[in-house]
Amino acid sequence: MSNAKEDRKDEVAELALRRGFLWQSFEIYGGAAGFYDYGPLGALLKRGVEAEWRRFYCIGEGFYEIEATTIAPRDIFEASGHLKSFADMAVACKSCKTFFRVDEGINIGKRCPECGGELVDAGEFNLMFQTKIGVPKGERDESAQKKSEGYLRPETAQGIFINFPRLLRFNRDKLPLGIIQIGKAYRNEISPRKSLIRLREFTMAEAEIFVDPREKDRHPKFDTVKDRAMRLVPGEGEETEMSVEAAVKSGIITNEYLGYHVAKVGEFLERIGIPKDKLRFRQHRKDEMAHYARDCWDAEFLSERYGWMEIVGVADRGDYDLSVHASFSNTDMSVHAQSDTEQEKLIPHVIEPSFGIDRIIYALLESSLYKEQVGKEKRKVLRFKKEIAPIKAAVFPLLNRDELKEKAKEVFQKLREESIFVEYDASGSIGRRYRRQDEIGTPYCITIDYDTLEDDTVTVRERDTMEQVRVPIAEVKDVLLL
Ligand code: ATP
Ligand code: GLY
Repeated sequence: MSNAKEDRKDEVAELALRRGFLWQSFEIYGGAAGFYDYGPLGALLKRGVEAEWRRFYCIGEGFYEIEATTIAPRDIFEASGHLKSFADMAVACKSCKTFFRVDEGINIGKRCPECGGELVDAGEFNLMFQTKIGVPKGERDESAQKKSEGYLRPETAQGIFINFPRLLRFNRDKLPLGIIQIGKAYRNEISPRKSLIRLREFTMAEAEIFVDPREKDRHPKFDTVKDRAMRLVPGEGEETEMSVEAAVKSGIITNEYLGYHVAKVGEFLERIGIPKDKLRFRQHRKDEMAHYARDCWDAEFLSERYGWMEIVGVADRGDYDLSVHASFSNTDMSVHAQSDTEQEKLIPHVIEPSFGIDRIIYALLESSLYKEQVGKEKRKVLRFKKEIAPIKAAVFPLLNRDELKEKAKEVFQKLREESIFVEYDASGSIGRRYRRQDEIGTPYCITIDYDTLEDDTVTVRERDTMEQVRVPIAEVKDVLLL
């Protein structure tokens, strides 16, 4: 690993910790691998990303949001296939006994990354957290024990599938139907050693789009995305750049519906500030496809620290989930669909963009961190887009004088009344206050000086260019919201 990579990681982690974005959970008890807490600025950033995501899918695509439980009885995961198939291969070190998930970097044949010892096969490891629901009747009765078995959800999707009959009714029995959910998912990862990338409790934002299988080859809004250029790595083949339309036409992406949603994922990630040149879409090889998927494309971010890493998965789940739940629960999951000549009963197919919000937060922190030399000082800036910046603006009195502080508090209060999340800061030199706001990604700083008391104008400084303009107080909110 190069020093540059180490530096970048340390810098991102150090800033995130020092400025209250992110820290290890249970810190005062020594921490636990795979768990992170979001501090005040981290929570604001995360909520901002989630709000943009909701806007994108609810308002942009017309999807509805539901909130299902995060614990479910065993039956659900028996039906979904997670009990049998949601497992990773593990290897263990013969000397230090540490377990590792098998991936490209670690397998039998390699040596233990901790101590250099010999690695041996440790078999499959199911990733779901098990729990008990209630007190099982009859301690020794095996079927009662099984009945009380519950699991923390490893994806939000199942909560949508099992509610499909009610959701379909809500949609007046019509397809397509798009449902979203944002919430916690839990996976007992074998070796969670990579910050926000591999957590045991994390936030997913998923959309499940139910479509008539006969309509998968024509998405009504495909024209709006067809020319989007994408960097694609097909399952069996070389990386290539082409339009979504060309990818669908040549069969690299299996249908228009999937192509549309792969393109929309790219659009969303760029909109919140992931640089396009650090994004690509990689198709799963047949041997890495999840048990429910027919085709799957990962949006990958090029991290300076971790290399290419998956941040979103976009899958064509076919009729897998609705069919297994129909059969296990004995519930009709079919839709009456009209063809040219007759009514047909069919099981809808599902297209699913599945976003890992925490990995996106990591990608945003890493790719937004920018440094430049200004005079004798090194300026560190988190260049967040305005929409997701935790603090939208900071209000400063130029000097620590009562008359300036009073006016600054008045401006601060006015902006809050406009529902703009602003901070007030009067401590230390103005330079230090700018530096702090740059480091937490605040797009604007507003300074109140003696001219303000005369003519009701303030100085507004823009974070990236450091340019300052004089603006009447009444117009400040328009500058912030632009
Ligand atoms: P990986 O192969 O890296 O384990 P995955 O293929 O299991 O990921 P998916 O099952 O496709 O991931 O999950 C959808 C999204 O959820 C991923 O794109 C990722 O952003 C996020 N995700 C999955 N597992 C974790 C985890 N352990 N910690 C944080 N985010 C995760
Ligand atoms: N719901 C997608 C996944 O868990 O991979």
